[in-house]
Amino acid sequence: MYSLMKLFLISFSLLFGGINGEMGSNQLLGPRKVPKLFVFGDSYADTGNTKRDTEAWALPYGITFPGKPSGRYCDGLIATDFLEKVLGAESPYLYRTHGRKKKIKRGMNFAFGASKMLESSPNSPFPNITAQVNFLVDFVLAGRVYGDITPSDVSLISYAGGDYIYYIDQNRPAAGLKAIVEKVVDNLHVNMIILSGLLFKKIAVTSLQPIGCLPSYTSSSSFKSCNESQSALVELHNKLLKKVVAKLNEQSRVMKKGQHFFIIDIHNAFMTVLKNKGSKRFKNTMKSCCEGYCGRSSDGKKLYTLCDDPKSSFFWDEVHPTQEGWRSIYSVLGKPLTEFLTKP
Ligand SMILES: *[C@@H]1O[C@H](CO)[C@@H](O)[C@H](O)[C@H]1NC(C)=O
Ligand SMILES: *[C@@H]1O[C@H](CO)[C@@H](O)[C@H](O)[C@H]1NC(C)=O
Repeated sequence: MYSLMKLFLISFSLLFGGINGEMGSNQLLGPRKVPKLFVFGDSYADTGNTKRDTEAWALPYGITFPGKPSGRYCDGLIATDFLEKVLGAESPYLYRTHGRKKKIKRGMNFAFGASKMLESSPNSPFPNITAQVNFLVDFVLAGRVYGDITPSDVSLISYAGGDYIYYIDQNRPAAGLKAIVEKVVDNLHVNMIILSGLLFKKIAVTSLQPIGCLPSYTSSSSFKSCNESQSALVELHNKLLKKVVAKLNEQSRVMKKGQHFFIIDIHNAFMTVLKNKGSKRFKNTMKSCCEGYCGRSSDGKKLYTLCDDPKSSFFWDEVHPTQEGWRSIYSVLGKPLTEFLTKP
């Protein structure tokens, strides 16, 4: 409720007060502005907000890029980095390092590894996704976004199902998942409405990857096949999300708001790569490069093993793709994504 009230306030002030030369017609004729990218989410999108005592800040994370741990849950570059390249955006600031700066001249990455949607503890080191979106609302209300939000700017909610994975790993009854999925998608919906209230023209959300294909759920089949127990929840999530996004686009069309909502179809991209259609790039598609307790050691002994070449694996650890994995995902996403991003 609090955020909806703020949303109203902010739309009001942006529509009737705060419009400055930024949105004038000269800009349409002038050179295209460097787009700003704003990202909310979890470890699939976090480029270094996560606390220093998490695995992502320990070896072997980061060995491919930048050559040492950087807080990314990967051997190298991840989704946010590839998206930023496709968009032609400057690298978004990290909330951790620039969250207290007076003015931000670029976009910002608010994503935290291990963030969930329905995590409600105010003491959690990982703000939930709604809280992350509210950080940006506060920024905009305080006039801290340099040049305001422009039509080429993009906002993205990247959600990899942390709430579901937590639930499944506690061995709780599968029947309870439906209600959680509905709640999560409701929250995604509200957050997209808030982003539209900030006057973003381009609002993207990821579909949910096939959770049952993650190495943590395929180890029992020796990494041969995806665990189908997780398919129903993934399908439901993606079906509800499609509905929500279609509705938002329809509302934007009817009300002539010129806002585009877009699903970055990570699910389809994962499936395409895992089925290895058209590419034999990966020696290991289902098995991760790092096995064991990646990023952990005890008495100076590593608690994990590494494959010879991370480039030959799609998965880096039990949950996250490698840099090459993300690269292949973004090459599958290709044209529709580029079209959405470069839409006037
Ligand atoms: C998200 O976090 C905020 C701040 O901790 C909390 O007030 C809110 O209830 C949380 N949202 C959900 C859906 O749990
Ligand atoms: C699939 O995952 C469920 C947990 O959701 C687990 O109980 C089951 O044993 C797994 N099946 C296989 C074949 O690994």
